[in-house]
Amino acid sequence: GQKTFKLNTGAEIPVVGLGTWQSAPGEVAKAVESAIKSGYRHIDAAWIYGNSEEVGAGIKAAGVPRSELFVTTKVWCTYHRQPEACLDESLQMLGLDYVDLLLIHWPVPLQKRGDEKIPLNEDGSRAIDREWTPEQTWELMEKLPATGKTKAIGVSNWSIPYLEKLLTNAKIVPAVNQVELHPFLPQHELVKYCQDKGILPQAYSPLGSSGGPVLNDELVQSIAKAHKADPAQVVISWAAQRGVVALPKSVTPSRIETNSQLIVLSDEEMLQLNELHKQEGKAVRLVKPNHFAALAANDSAEQFTPI
Ligand code: A2P
Repeated sequence: GQKTFKLNTGAEIPVVGLGTWQSAPGEVAKAVESAIKSGYRHIDAAWIYGNSEEVGAGIKAAGVPRSELFVTTKVWCTYHRQPEACLDESLQMLGLDYVDLLLIHWPVPLQKRGDEKIPLNEDGSRAIDREWTPEQTWELMEKLPATGKTKAIGVSNWSIPYLEKLLTNAKIVPAVNQVELHPFLPQHELVKYCQDKGILPQAYSPLGSSGGPVLNDELVQSIAKAHKADPAQVVISWAAQRGVVALPKSVTPSRIETNSQLIVLSDEEMLQLNELHKQEGKAVRLVKPNHFAALAANDSAEQFTPI
């Protein structure tokens, strides 16, 4: 079976999961099915991705018992006042009775206006719900494991200041914090903070998002060559060896399969990858446009200029 980490709930979570953001309906069911058939047991979904029905169809088509799978979904910003409603809709679309992990997608409550996903003010700015805090959302999240509809709860795109605030009054420590993380944005400070608190860090866009730009890096390529491996295996294994869950997205069966095959990097290679972001011009956020990064103060202070 796949290598796993342990959550602070005691549950096992496979170290590599299939990312499904930007996987188009029409492609994603097949991607999920082929991932599970090639050995994946972990699928990362979200309400906002708009493809939960297809993700669910792929899970069903793969025919693996539900108990063997680890499925995550995320509460969208317009549902901060009613995370359970977002969970219910997601379960319905996925065709599942429960998820293994439910995350707050961003620490940014937006006003709920019908079906609008990102409601805007008249001046074009995002309609933030200023009467509501992410900590209040967390209080509602804390009630959800008891419903049986999610096994664990966590957060996504939380910076250290947000986590500090959350932990002050939290009854449940988040099981994970899922953030943009790759060698150009290694999040060293945030990873250490999370690990010290028992929060498992998860990497979205581990290849650098669309087109996998991190895979073109010279260092990544030379390490790949030395291992006769694919550059994607280098960056995914780098995450895994740091104790970080990697969620590579692909809709290409051959890549999906390769991405789940971890290699063993030397201490020297780990160090080089850890320091790659220090090279001139390398430290960047690659997920663009990232509407919420600035609002959420998403990154550890050290690295980069927010966009
Ligand atoms: P595709 O889905 O067409 O296979 P990230 O996980 O950082 O968001 O990166 C996703 C991007 O990387 C997608 O464009 C995906 O393309 C591409 N990708 C995924 N796996 C690989 C791989 N092993 N080699 C090259 N590109 C990959």
